[in-house]
Amino acid sequence: MGFQTTCCASSVVEVIGETPLVELARITKGLEGRLLAKLEYLNPGHSKKDRIARQIIEDAEAEGRLEHGQTVVELTSGNTGTGLAIVCAVKGYPFVAVMSKGNSAERMRMMRALGAEVVLVPQLPESQVGQVSGGDLELAEEATQQIVAERKAFRADQFHDSGNFRAHSLHTGPEILAQTGGAIDAFCDFAGTGGSFAGCAAAFKKYNASIECYIVEPASCAVLAGGPATNPNHRLQGGGYSMHDLPLIQREHVDGYIGISDEEAIAGARRLAAEEGIFAGFSTGANIAAALKLLPGKTVVILINDSGMKYLSTDLWK
Ligand SMILES: Cc1ncc(COP(=O)(O)O)c(C=O)c1O
Repeated sequence: MGFQTTCCASSVVEVIGETPLVELARITKGLEGRLLAKLEYLNPGHSKKDRIARQIIEDAEAEGRLEHGQTVVELTSGNTGTGLAIVCAVKGYPFVAVMSKGNSAERMRMMRALGAEVVLVPQLPESQVGQVSGGDLELAEEATQQIVAERKAFRADQFHDSGNFRAHSLHTGPEILAQTGGAIDAFCDFAGTGGSFAGCAAAFKKYNASIECYIVEPASCAVLAGGPATNPNHRLQGGGYSMHDLPLIQREHVDGYIGISDEEAIAGARRLAAEEGIFAGFSTGANIAAALKLLPGKTVVILINDSGMKYLSTDLWK
């Protein structure tokens, strides 16, 4: 039998990235323009955050900032934690994920299954489960700092570490340019840390400064656009934390801001599942809603941030 030998990855970490790009031709039927979606939920941890977990750990290893067997700690809404749990399991680092109780339970269970220790931080009394506010995040931040100090741990620090930016400027953005031959007009992305936006925007602007890059945020706390936080308790898990400054974002790469309501994001995620067969979450729904506002006459690219499986305990799916 003449099999041609194909390569076998040495670990699951090796298969992070190089995700497919799919045209959403059913959602855009009757509209002018194209909407292209990069299927980040096909990463091993079912989100784009696997990319930054790998980059942050491998950059820290290369620069001698992470010692062999040292504990890794991160404050996470679940996806970065899942990525880090995978990378740490493979590379032999103990991993502690600190997470607000407001995030969905699937995320916690998945991280525990992958060998992580998960520390759940109670929400503020006025907060609601499923709605993590900036205040909830501050409480989780205090707990994270304490654990890092106690365990002399390496903090992955996704809001500041350049690995978050580099994962997307070196890989996600260039992959999209290669997949499209650079023929895109606009990119929009729901911001949490802003790492995906910043890295992809840097790659796109370096290739062609006229590719427009838009930040997507909850309409009720569009603070990056300079608006007020009228309701920080939105439904869009993974971002929209009412932080005025996201250190990884280069403002000169921002062509504009698009505010999306919970209802618009939910409708976007449901259409994506029902019409395109792509099962994603709230923040991806926000990207869809924003892209549709940009669309007429343009080729717009978005990321499918994570899997809808992570929201089965919420009312996104009934
Ligand atoms: C589901 C989901 N969407 C969007 C984001 C925001 O991505 P970024 O931190 O790159 O801005 C995150 C970040 O954790 C996320 O988990």
